[in-house]
Amino acid sequence: MKKRFYLILAVLVLALALITPQLFAQYNRDVVVSTMHNNVRLLGEINSALNAKDFYTTGLRLMELAEGTYSLSQMAPPRGLQAEWTRIQREITAAAFRGIGACGEEDAAKVQAEIGKIVALRNEGHSKFR
Ligand code: HEM
Repeated sequence: MKKRFYLILAVLVLALALITPQLFAQYNRDVVVSTMHNNVRLLGEINSALNAKDFYTTGLRLMELAEGTYSLSQMAPPRGLQAEWTRIQREITAAAFRGIGACGEEDAAKVQAEIGKIVALRNEGHSKFR
């Protein structure tokens, strides 16, 4: 009876070990650091474009930010909980999409509010994972 329990446990552990790496790519520091540098540049360009009421460029740069951030959501974090890491990246992606929607309405205050949420999520991400 005990033997069977250990056998089932061993099979479950093996199955988990095989499945987990396929769900999330391993942490890749080079990719993360280059995405972060890109994000710094994009936030700068987003703010300047918004100040100039250039909603087209603001929307394009928000889309780039969403693209890079979403791709990190599928990677394992360097430390901490996978679920938290993925949630924060996905919330930034959603805020960027709402910002793009607000660009369509040419509503600068709404875009600004979404940028504020992105910055708050960045800070949360750094406090948990950096
Ligand atoms: C727009 C949002 C963000 C900006 C502008 C930003 C910016 C930065 C910068 C400038 C660095 C330092 C890179 C270097 O070492 O040269 C960094 C590192 C880091 N950031 Fe972000 N970040 C953002 C969002 C996030 C989020 C959402 C998370 C996690 C949920 C995160 C996690 C990290 C981690 C783990 C590092 C350390 C990378 C390493 O050295 O292994 N960042 N970030």
